[in-house]
Amino acid sequence: RTTAVVLAGGTGQRVGLAIPKQLLKIAGKAVIEHTLTTFEKADSVDDVIVLMAPGFVPDVEKIVAKAGLRKVRAVIEGGATRNETTERAITALGEGLAEGEDLNVLFHDAVRPLLSQRVIDDCVAALARYEAVDVAIPSADTIIVTRTHGQDGEFITEIPDRSRLRRGQTPQAFKLSTIRHAYEIAAGDPNFQATDDCSVVLKYLPDVPIHVVAGDEYNMKVTQPVDVFIADKLFQLGSTAAPEQKNDDVYRELLTGKTVVVFGG
Ligand code: CTP
Repeated sequence: RTTAVVLAGGTGQRVGLAIPKQLLKIAGKAVIEHTLTTFEKADSVDDVIVLMAPGFVPDVEKIVAKAGLRKVRAVIEGGATRNETTERAITALGEGLAEGEDLNVLFHDAVRPLLSQRVIDDCVAALARYEAVDVAIPSADTIIVTRTHGQDGEFITEIPDRSRLRRGQTPQAFKLSTIRHAYEIAAGDPNFQATDDCSVVLKYLPDVPIHVVAGDEYNMKVTQPVDVFIADKLFQLGSTAAPEQKNDDVYRELLTGKTVVVFGG
């Protein structure tokens, strides 16, 4: 069985609205409704649980009821950090399992509403062979590593070979038993710190290979205010059902001047 865990426990400080950014309406629907609808349509996903920012659980329950999202079987409160939210999901999922039973779990950021069915299916397929799976895309930007020297500011210490660098997206997919084991070990580390779930497996279960599935540029994270405009424009450009196939049409339109892209305008 495969369960999608939609991580929505954050409050969106960088976007800076009075409500969490996952409740913001883009292209007529709350960001989280777009995300949940994508999982609802995914044949390879059986059910969904949502971990929502405290105080906003009823808002998600209303969205789920109104949109008739049948796969969503629980909406519970998230934790103070993204990793705490994941831990709560692991606990909740474990409670429903019989002795010795395992589960495929896909942890996905609620604020990546343009996830494609292809990426979901590739993650689930990869779990047939691997216990841990990440989704990533190549980096177009050169990535530099810096160190801050007091008042003088930042200086470069390293420029890693760009051909090997990837930008991590979500879903991050695991066998429940594997990610639970990694978090159990992490619980004993007083210096535990992470911003995603694959890094918990990489650090605490170093023998487990983490397979990488190709993500796509559309699967952006709404993080900064400008991302709201970009996501809105991407939704206007067309269905997310097969964004890779749409690319050609979109670029052709852009090149022939049929589409005028105005960000923030
Ligand atoms: N997230 C979560 N629980 C938290 C913090 C974050 O489930 N305690 C989720 C967010 O809701 C989001 C995803 O993790 O879907 C990616 O996090 P990020 O973009 O950093 O979201 P926020 O924490 O809401 O943003 P900010 O850091 O600007 O406050």
